[in-house]
Amino acid sequence: MGQDVIVACDFATKEETLRFLDYFAQEEKPFVKIGMELYYAEGPEIVREIKRRGHKIFLDLKLHDIPNTVEKAMRVLSKLDVDMTNLHAAGTVKMMEAAVRGLTREDGSRPLLIAVTQLTSTDQERMTEEILIDRPLEEVVITYAKNADKAGLDGVVCSPLEAGIVHEAVGEGFITVTPGVRFEESDKGDQSRVTTPARAKELGSDYIVVGRPITQAADPLEAYRRCVRDFVDVQPEEHNKEFCFPEL
Ligand code: C5P
Repeated sequence: MGQDVIVACDFATKEETLRFLDYFAQEEKPFVKIGMELYYAEGPEIVREIKRRGHKIFLDLKLHDIPNTVEKAMRVLSKLDVDMTNLHAAGTVKMMEAAVRGLTREDGSRPLLIAVTQLTSTDQERMTEEILIDRPLEEVVITYAKNADKAGLDGVVCSPLEAGIVHEAVGEGFITVTPGVRFEESDKGDQSRVTTPARAKELGSDYIVVGRPITQAADPLEAYRRCVRDFVDVQPEEHNKEFCFPEL
């Protein structure tokens, strides 16, 4: 699996986002994540604009609804040329199967579909006391990952700390996309379960999702390059040539 750094573009407007992407030289086109804030503010046009600039896109909308609604919503998203999108595994296997159906285009192609297991902002205590899931967090993550695999999804979003157990339980080819990444010296913010890019690599994560440590850095380009150096372990100039997104 090609490892890559995905930059979470958690901005409120198109202008802020494009200004941020302008930091990156023409030849460096990071894989970017568009989340709810930006998508709800700007709609599908922001996806098309970033795609036109040559970036791969992870559309992070975390769908969770009844299967029929998710299937129809995924059908709409299938028309956007994104490379990866996601939903909540808690929506059940039936919902995830419906999502795969909705996302699959007439020619049989589709973006990668990834399930959120437990948000990296959730810890064992919150899960037990507030969501009333009285099982160890790791067991929940593994079970959700197995459910996602059963439904035909390509991988899960999980903490880097869980990448190893997910691969062990579901297989090396099952993708782990891992937020909750911080440089040693940076602030954890609202994330509970965090690791450095280098540690995420050791733990076997396939893609790291990095937001604030890059978007709020004094030098975002250098912060991105540092992530690439630490996680992908090749020079950034070589990185975009060598690590291509897998074709479906
Ligand atoms: O700024 P930070 O590096 O914490 O950003 C992490 C990104 O990953 C955010 O866009 C957040 O929504 C997303 N995410 C997460 N935990 C998950 C799934 C997605 O932090 N389980």
